[in-house]
Amino acid sequence: MRISILGPPGSGKGTVSDKLEKEFHLLHLSAGELLRAQIKKKTKIGRQIKPIVERGDLVPDDITIGLVKAKVKGQKHYLLDGFPRTLYQAQKIQDLHLEKILYLSVSQQQVIERLAGRRVCEQGKHNYHLLYIPPKIVGRCDIDGSRLLQRKDDNPQAILERFRVFRKQTRPVIDYFKKRKVLITIDASATPEAVYAKLQVMLKSKGHNHSR
Ligand code: AP5
Ligand code: MG
Repeated sequence: MRISILGPPGSGKGTVSDKLEKEFHLLHLSAGELLRAQIKKKTKIGRQIKPIVERGDLVPDDITIGLVKAKVKGQKHYLLDGFPRTLYQAQKIQDLHLEKILYLSVSQQQVIERLAGRRVCEQGKHNYHLLYIPPKIVGRCDIDGSRLLQRKDDNPQAILERFRVFRKQTRPVIDYFKKRKVLITIDASATPEAVYAKLQVMLKSKGHNHSR
């Protein structure tokens, strides 16, 4: 299975991808996480993109495409989270032959609440929400015990910029996949459990399973 999951900032892409990864045995590749890992490691790319990611703009297409393509090489079953986000990226990965694009649709007001309460573990991998998905121990990751932090781009100014970029650059990508009849739109305004249940039904009913 080769799928991509798109949606506005805070729509729940990472939250559902973690679950899909386990259930459908997919490699979960978040473009945002790949980029943040470069920043954390202070690589040449990391130093170049740090200010761009922190203010909420998209990093240059060729950098993101290069990082994602290197990771999917030789892989059969994967889930791309937050990629492709521009028409250029979508066109440059036609050779991946993505089977389905999942689009998480949710209102701006709802995602602002989600982002304001989001906490991420120090490893950058596990997401929580102070109200909706709280950790068992306050301030600690349930899975690896590391501290829970706020993402640098989860500040009001960067959140607004991420929305602006989503509307301008990524909405056309959603329309592009809709026209190609590979888009599955999911109402992501419900609880995490309800959103995931909808996705499960959708993927199973479309005849997708990990053996494909
Ligand atoms: P990225 O990391 O992808 O950020 P994003 O798109 O803004 O999305 P988020 O990760 O903030 O949200 P999410 O949809 O994963 O939601 P989550 O599950 O965490 O990208 C960051 C940056 O990297 C970009 O701004 C750009 O600079 C760069 N970048 C990335 N991809 C790029 C590309 N392709 N090209 C160029 N640049 C790129 O959930 C959010 C919160 O809500 C959590 O607290 C969670 O616990 C909670 N929650 C989740 N689901 C629910 C629910 N159903 N109900 C209540 N709460 C929920
Ligand atoms: Mg995410």
